[in-house]
Amino acid sequence: MEDSWATSLDLHLDLPGGTGVRAALIRSLRDAVREGRLAPGTRLPSSRSLAVDLGIARNTVADAYGELVAEGWLTARQGSGTRVARRVVPPEPAPPRTPQTPARPVYDLTPGSPDVASFPRSAWLSASRRALTSAPNEAFGYGKPQGRAELRRVLADYLARARGVRAAPERIVVCAGFTQGLAVLSRVLRQAGERAVAVESYGLDIHWNAMRRAGLDTVPLPVDGHGADVAELDRLGVGTALLTPAHQFPTGVSLDPDRRAAVVDWASRTGGLVLEDDYDGEFRYDRQPVGALQGLDPERVVYLGTASKSLAPGLRIAWMVVPDHLMDAVLALKGTGEWQSGVLDQLTLAEFIDSGAYDRHLRGMRLRYRRRRDQVVAALAERAPGVRVTGIAAGLHAVLELPPGTELSVVQGAAWQGLALHGLARFRHPDAGAVRRDALVFAYGTPPDHAFSGAIEALCRVLP
Ligand SMILES: Cc1ncc(COP(=O)(O)O)c(C=O)c1O
Repeated sequence: MEDSWATSLDLHLDLPGGTGVRAALIRSLRDAVREGRLAPGTRLPSSRSLAVDLGIARNTVADAYGELVAEGWLTARQGSGTRVARRVVPPEPAPPRTPQTPARPVYDLTPGSPDVASFPRSAWLSASRRALTSAPNEAFGYGKPQGRAELRRVLADYLARARGVRAAPERIVVCAGFTQGLAVLSRVLRQAGERAVAVESYGLDIHWNAMRRAGLDTVPLPVDGHGADVAELDRLGVGTALLTPAHQFPTGVSLDPDRRAAVVDWASRTGGLVLEDDYDGEFRYDRQPVGALQGLDPERVVYLGTASKSLAPGLRIAWMVVPDHLMDAVLALKGTGEWQSGVLDQLTLAEFIDSGAYDRHLRGMRLRYRRRRDQVVAALAERAPGVRVTGIAAGLHAVLELPPGTELSVVQGAAWQGLALHGLARFRHPDAGAVRRDALVFAYGTPPDHAFSGAIEALCRVLP
C-alpha cells in the first residue's frame, strides 16, 4: 500500500529540488483531495514513510502536512495520524456560462473578399523580383503622396483599354484601398463646403461612415432594377453622388444607359460631382464589361478602382482618377495625413500589369468565377426552386430573393449551420425608408475551390 502513495499522488515523477519540493508536494496533495483521489477520512502515510517513498527529507513532508492541516484539507490528531478532512470539499467553481452562440462559420459567404487562395503567387513573385531589381535607389525613400510614376503610367494605359477611363498618369492618385481614397475625397469635399453626399440606398456602411467621419451626411438615393434613381438628385439638393454604376453593390444591377447619361448631365448642369466606385468592373460574364462612367465626363466624375477584388484586399492598393480642379486639394490632403501604399507593392503591381500577368490573371479568374456562378444557379434551380437568383451578370456575388419575412430567420439558421451569410437588410441605408425586400447577398467568389461544393450544399440546406 505504502509504495503506491507516490504513484497515486503523482509525486514520484519530477519533483523539483530545493524549496520547490515542499510547494510541489502541497500542490499535489491538495489536487488529490480536491479531485477525490484521496477520499475524506483516508489516513495518510507517516511523514517518515512518505519521505522515504519519495526520496525527500522528512521535514519537507511534515511541513507540507502542517500547511495542509492549517488550510483545512487534512486533519492531524494524536493517535489517529494525518487524515484527509471529512468536510465537504467545495466544488470547483462552475465555468462561466457562455451565451449560446452559433459555432465559428465553416463557410464564409459574406461579400467583400475574392478567392484569396487564387492569388497569383508565383507570377506576383516574378514581378516583384523584376521590380526590385530595376527599382532606382530613390524608390526606397519616402516617396510622393500621388504614388509611383511607374504604376500611374501603366494604370493610365490599362484603365483606358479595359475600362474606357480617360486618364493621364498625372491625374492618377494611388491610394491604400478605395476606402482610403473615399476618405481623402470626403475631406476635400468638406473643406470645399459640401455638407452631404447622395449614396445608393443599398451599400456599405464602412463607406458611409468614412464620409460621416469627414463631416459629410449621407442621403440615400433609391435603387431599383435599373440602378440608382439619379432623377432624385435634383430633389435631394446635394453636390456629390457616390455610385457603383457598373455593378450596383450589393443588388448587382448595372446603371441603366439613360440613367448614366442623366447623372452626367446632372453633374455638368449643376457643377456636381460623381464618385464612381468601380470595385469589380472587370468581372462581367455575359457580355463586354460596361465601360466606366468617367469616360463620359472626366471633369465631373472621379473614377475609383481597386485591386481588392481583382487581386487581393490585403494588398491595399487602389487608384483614383481625379479631375484637374480637385487635384491640388487631394494631393495636399493625402500628403499631410493620409500616406500612400508601400512602394515595393506599387512597383510590383506596375510590373505585373505591364508584363501582361494582370490580364492573364483576370481572364483566368473571370472563367473560374463564371463557372462558380453557373454552378450556384444550377444548384439552386434544382434544390431551391422557390428562390430567384438576381444580380448575376457580373461580380463575385449574387442576390437570392427570399419569400417575404424570411430573411432574418434564414440568416440565423445559416449561422447555426456554420454558414456566414448576410441578408440584404444589412446593406440598407438607415434613412432609406421602409421598403422591404427579403434577400441574401451570397458571395460565391470567397470560398476556396476545394470548399466550394460544400458551401453550396450547406447553402441549399438552409434555404426555404
Ligand atoms: C462596393 C465596394 N466598393 C469598394 C470596395 C473595395 O474597397 P477597398 O479597396 O478599400 O478594399 C469593395 C470591396 O469589397 C466593395 O464591395
